[in-house]
Amino acid sequence: MPWTDDNLMSLQSHVLAEERQYPGATGDFSWILSAISLATKTIGNKVRRARIEDVIGELGETNVQGETQQKLDVIANEIIKSCLGSRANIGALVSEEEETPTILRSHEDGGRYAVLFDPLDGSSNLDVSVGVGTIFSVVRLGDGVKGTPEHMILAPESRQVAAGYVLYGSSTVFVLTTGRGVDMFVLDHSIGSFVLVKRDLKIPKTRKVYSINEAYVDRFPDGYRRYLEWAHSDGYSSRYIGSMVADIHRTLLKGGVFIYPPTVDHAEGKLRYLYEAMPMSMLIEQAGGRSIAGAGTRLLDVKPTDLHQRIPVVMGSSDEVDHVERFLSES
Ligand code: AHG
Ligand code: MN
Ligand code: MN
Repeated sequence: MPWTDDNLMSLQSHVLAEERQYPGATGDFSWILSAISLATKTIGNKVRRARIEDVIGELGETNVQGETQQKLDVIANEIIKSCLGSRANIGALVSEEEETPTILRSHEDGGRYAVLFDPLDGSSNLDVSVGVGTIFSVVRLGDGVKGTPEHMILAPESRQVAAGYVLYGSSTVFVLTTGRGVDMFVLDHSIGSFVLVKRDLKIPKTRKVYSINEAYVDRFPDGYRRYLEWAHSDGYSSRYIGSMVADIHRTLLKGGVFIYPPTVDHAEGKLRYLYEAMPMSMLIEQAGGRSIAGAGTRLLDVKPTDLHQRIPVVMGSSDEVDHVERFLSES
């Protein structure tokens, strides 16, 4: 039966139905995504109960990025590992919070995918109940690529085949692409399932909103500064939450541009390529938007060389990214 707006469709059935369209499909995605769904429902529950369970605040440790870990960063990381660890087709789990990948099985033993994730994005906002999220990317490990898992993940033969995020906000929203558009699901707590609310989501082509930490403006390269001056004179509005998932979610639904530029102290910006920029770029492009790392550089064309590498980000409505790019290319 064709899908209509009236049919109730869970995330699991949606992924299964999509997979069935491919003859010989292995069910790989439904297997991986059901684990991600379980993990994110569990993390969402922890986030909602964080104040009650007294797991808000810093752990007193720093992660591989040199950033202070929140207690929930570590809890979310463990939840993802325990939910995904038993899936037979996952070879490696790669987390923003851990220096080295968790190796589950070799390519020969069936480990054909790596799942890369930012377990809790925006975690410093937790203590004020602002929306936080989980970002993930599923990478098919290239056939015949040998070497360490790090080598395999970074090999050009490896390919991002799915990406998504879950926003723990006023509702819990799962946004997913498997390379055929972007679909949005909302967690119905009464039945415990993510249900499809929007299929083939498209980002508006234009909207005069920029999302950037403007307090750092004196530390941005010239092109970004001139773009902001132009935007001020052209009637733009500004929205910045400081949780990438929440800022991208708003940008995806309402349009605008999200920017995290290089700064004087961080020449590559702050955001991580593999756990934040890469999955969000796939989603934005699949929704009809653009994502660049600089003038003339499509973000997804940049070949990462390090698992924890950072990269400047300009992504969102295609017209709005074009405007920023115009100023960057003049500098
Ligand atoms: P994380 O909590 O995973 O370390 O990510 C925080 C990131 C991202 O969510 C957000 O876009 C950015 O930090 C905000 O940085 P500034 O505070 O420098 O604006
Ligand atoms: Mn993050
Ligand atoms: Mn994080």
